[in-house]
Amino acid sequence: MRAVDIIIKKRDRQELTTEEIRFFIEGYTRGEIPDYQAAAWAMAVLLNGMTPRETTDLTLAMAHSGDVLDLSGVVPIALDKHSTGGVGDKTTLVVLPMVVAAGVPVGKMSGRGLGFSGGTLDKMESIPGYRTDLTTEEFLQQLREVGIVLTGQSADLAPADGKLYALRDVTGTVPSIPLIASSIMSKKIAAGAEGIVLDVKVGKGAFMQTLEDARALAELMVEIADRAGRRAIALLSDMNQPLGYAVGNALEVQEAIATLHNGGPADFREHCFMVAAHMLVLGGKAKDEAEGRALAARTLADGSAWEAFRNLVRAQGGDVAYVDDPARLPAARLQEAVPAPRRGYVAEIHARTVGETAVILGAGREKKGEPIDHAVGIMVHKKVGEAVEAGEPVFTIHANDEARLAEARERLLRALKISSEAVLPLPHFYGVIGE
Ligand code: URA
Repeated sequence: MRAVDIIIKKRDRQELTTEEIRFFIEGYTRGEIPDYQAAAWAMAVLLNGMTPRETTDLTLAMAHSGDVLDLSGVVPIALDKHSTGGVGDKTTLVVLPMVVAAGVPVGKMSGRGLGFSGGTLDKMESIPGYRTDLTTEEFLQQLREVGIVLTGQSADLAPADGKLYALRDVTGTVPSIPLIASSIMSKKIAAGAEGIVLDVKVGKGAFMQTLEDARALAELMVEIADRAGRRAIALLSDMNQPLGYAVGNALEVQEAIATLHNGGPADFREHCFMVAAHMLVLGGKAKDEAEGRALAARTLADGSAWEAFRNLVRAQGGDVAYVDDPARLPAARLQEAVPAPRRGYVAEIHARTVGETAVILGAGREKKGEPIDHAVGIMVHKKVGEAVEAGEPVFTIHANDEARLAEARERLLRALKISSEAVLPLPHFYGVIGE
């Protein structure tokens, strides 16, 4: 087999065989197929697409390019969740303890933020001492003994995806639904997931800007799971405005803690209930979404989800004094309210602009590996559809630098649209795929 023939075949819109896909991915992982051939192939895939069968083969080839965790002797069923990325998305911090408190142990590997969307590891690192670099042995031991783990990718999982994603990033080949679906699912499968809730965001602060694209991605990922012998369901959730009120690492941890104490913003609570409910259905703890929601809600009301979160923090070296008294978490030196320029109804709080503003304040990074400031961020006080008076605070900026604060103020005013006509609230969800 020759790599060039595989590229030509895809260029000419033909379906690749399982063997051809495996040959290409194995060769690329070992460095025998060079980047220029992989780039040409990725572009051919972007332009001509792949069938679900080809995409599943690609997913499995990438999943098996490194270690594949087997959690079957450790947990009754290996559950996972994945968000395609958004602004203010601190769902994992609440959902994981809820599911664990409802009786299903979960060990999860999460990622860091890049660009306008935040990352779970960065949020958890706002807690002094919290480790996100557990080894595979530590991961398995904690999962067995404590029943909850939230860390970074420890093992050499799906190295082919790591290599291919870096190449796609610089060759204009990221926005391909088969390449995105296989990239996400290969990592989930390599991490041992058997039941996966996929939170596919759609809107102005999401990767997928249209419902049509989000639905296509969700359907493909659910089909890949099915073909690969796993179970997945996908939620299509709104990401036109930030989720909850807090955007920024320590601010989001504080909001997650308030939610774990059975408070928190209504939209965020609803989001957590929905994700947790579907995980509990996949985990065999609930017969349907309604029962899963009731179970999840009980873990907030009786304090058991909060206890699970505390156990997690303690097990990973975090200082629980900071989560017991979240006012001690890193706080920014400057806080400034951004008032509404006129009265009316909130018509838009552009999630991407809010996310980009948080990056400017220092809460995120433009390039992998850049340091971040856990204290800074934005509190959004309004939701689309709510009435607002002139001069009423719509945002509070938390900053450590005057010039960045001034830039944030300008940008946030651009993110906000106020209408004199009444505006309907945005839906939380646009559908569920794979039920
Ligand atoms: N997230 C991933 O993990 N992979 C992609 O290709 C896009 C988003």
